[in-house]
Amino acid sequence: MTIKEIQEEILRLKKEKNICILAHSYVAKEIQEIADFTGDSYALSVKAKSTDAETVIMCGVRFMAETVKILSPEKTVYIANGAAGCPMAEQMDKETISAVKEMYPDFAVVAYINTTAALKTVCDVCVTSSQAVEIVSKMPEKNILFIPDCNLGDYVRKQLPEKNFKLLSGGCPTHAKISEEEVLRAKKEHPNALFLVHPECIPDVVKHADYVGSTSGIMNFAKKSDANEFIIGTEISIAELLQYECPDKNFYPLSKDLICSNMKATTLMDVYNTVKGTGGEKIVLDSETITKARKCIDKMIELGE
Ligand code: 13P
Ligand code: SF4
Repeated sequence: MTIKEIQEEILRLKKEKNICILAHSYVAKEIQEIADFTGDSYALSVKAKSTDAETVIMCGVRFMAETVKILSPEKTVYIANGAAGCPMAEQMDKETISAVKEMYPDFAVVAYINTTAALKTVCDVCVTSSQAVEIVSKMPEKNILFIPDCNLGDYVRKQLPEKNFKLLSGGCPTHAKISEEEVLRAKKEHPNALFLVHPECIPDVVKHADYVGSTSGIMNFAKKSDANEFIIGTEISIAELLQYECPDKNFYPLSKDLICSNMKATTLMDVYNTVKGTGGEKIVLDSETITKARKCIDKMIELGE
């Protein structure tokens, strides 16, 4: 079967079976083309809440599929490739954070959405990169324990000097390996380009940015901007996608190493097999985890609106 034929078969089956397909902007273009909705982690969570499909297939990483299940426990939720996990989401567990909370009882725990469902049960509110600053600014608490990404945490801290932050040393291995030297080299090669960066990069990289934001934030900024050249400091697929969508502008990936193998793990065949009912992994969470984790995701949506 050709790619086109597989895509047509997926579209036919998902209509017949009332399936909604959600795809993060980092996954392959041929998957995004057959998705009902694509976007950053915040947009996908909001969409997950509103879809009336009986079955949802998440093409992304496990914490994103868990978020869908938490928000819609009555739905059948699949991750198209069960091996696709976000390493950052596995860095801190519920027991460790419960122990840290005991050391800092007067701190509110803010969890990046890139965390497991189990860990979310002991957190006060979730954030995504697109609205972390806004949400933390609206919280009444002054003392904030921000987990697990210390780079995103550092970025939020710098925007909100009135708050008192405690950060732990977690983060995205893909974004965090990008160095300041690589930024300076890219800027020298493309002196007229604006530098757009994801806040999961280290502070010495982020400080050179003309714009800091989520995957969707970066895409929207580049599309609306009058500038013609951009260095893209996030997963390489965003520069590729932007180049495809805006052929009159030039997009340069900050580094060819900015590849998330977890986001690349899902293939069109995985999606096809999941839609057919012969693949994917059904997300199963116990009701106590769903109830407790939902509180901090609901709070994120409430404060993010
Ligand atoms: P976004 O919230 O920008 O979609 O980020 C998700 C992610 O995993 C970035 O590495
Ligand atoms: Fe996780 Fe980083 Fe991959 Fe995003 S890019 S899914 S944070 S490992």
